[in-house]
Amino acid sequence: MSAVRPSGPFREGDRVQLTGPKGRMHTITLREDGELHTHQGVLRHRDLIGLPDGSVVENSSGHGYLVLRPLLRDFVMSMPRGAAIVYPKDAAQIVTQADVFPGAIVVEAGVGSGALSLSLLRAIGPEGRLLSFERRDDFAEVARANIETFLGERPANWDVIVGDLVDALPESVPAGTADRVVLDMLAPWECIDVVAETLTPGGVVLCYVATATQLSRVAEYIRGTGLFTEPEASETMVRGWHVEGLAVRPDHRMVAHTGFLITARRLAPGAVPPDVKRRASKKAGYGDEDVELWTPGAVGDREITDKNLRKRVREAQKAASGARIAADARTDRPASPDGDSDPSA
Ligand SMILES: C[S@@+](CC[C@H](N)C(=O)[O-])C[C@H]1O[C@@H](n2cnc3c(N)ncnc32)[C@H](O)[C@@H]1O
Repeated sequence: MSAVRPSGPFREGDRVQLTGPKGRMHTITLREDGELHTHQGVLRHRDLIGLPDGSVVENSSGHGYLVLRPLLRDFVMSMPRGAAIVYPKDAAQIVTQADVFPGAIVVEAGVGSGALSLSLLRAIGPEGRLLSFERRDDFAEVARANIETFLGERPANWDVIVGDLVDALPESVPAGTADRVVLDMLAPWECIDVVAETLTPGGVVLCYVATATQLSRVAEYIRGTGLFTEPEASETMVRGWHVEGLAVRPDHRMVAHTGFLITARRLAPGAVPPDVKRRASKKAGYGDEDVELWTPGAVGDREITDKNLRKRVREAQKAASGARIAADARTDRPASPDGDSDPSA
């Protein structure tokens, strides 16, 4: 499938990443007659061809360069973007939570810059098929170019279909044949009906959304169809660590939020799962069940007796009274014995 091997000695046409003096990085595509000119000297590409990945070479001035093929995550983070990309941490979770397997038929929308497409193509392997839908032609072009750059060619098992998923999916994929569908778009709920039609029984739909309101809306839509298992939602936070000598600690900075994942599985036609209690929830506000979720017992605090609770109420009132007296003193107002300010003051 791919003309560029992810490992082995360097060959002409390989994209490689050079880390030179002061950690400065350059990405080049190896050509027999190519040269990298910097103010530190000249590095001939032919000096790299045939060397093992991870070699160090010297340029004309004796400066050393570490040469490595970029990993998929390096490429994705530096490639040109049309739309926002799925970050590697989320792509990894998407592959696992959507259970994308070698040989799977996978539908993806929108394709955006093609970052997720690269992970999906890897996961399905040459026996699988990826159909990527994108309603913007210009974004589809960016994705095609990025994927060709990384893989060295456009994979034969990858189709990009330009159009809105709602219209294009039923025309492009026979009903009940897709193993997995991954949606990364603003309004995935608009596509759930066609996705339900296209998924094979037991197939997985996964939506990647940026906000809690999108998460809620798509969850309720999926639930309301009655065609899927109960949706499951999660987010992934990855915190890097600095590990050097005795300085072993989390990094000071991290990517704190990217998006949420929500998955559900297509039920067989006519199947009604035993637990349908929470299905098709119509409520707009909070019910007793939601409030119960925040009781001390539910959030892990120990249960409290009535006597104990009365004691805590007295303690809380005493603290509030003290705070009022202090506030009154600051404003020079006389306070009543129970701490209430004198309204006539
Ligand atoms: C955030 S980007 C996708 C990024 C992509 N997953 C990546 O990793 O590079 C969302 C894309 O969905 C496309 N889109 C939104 N709604 C769509 C729909 N109904 N059908 C097809 N594409 C859609 C947008 O044009 C946009 O390019």
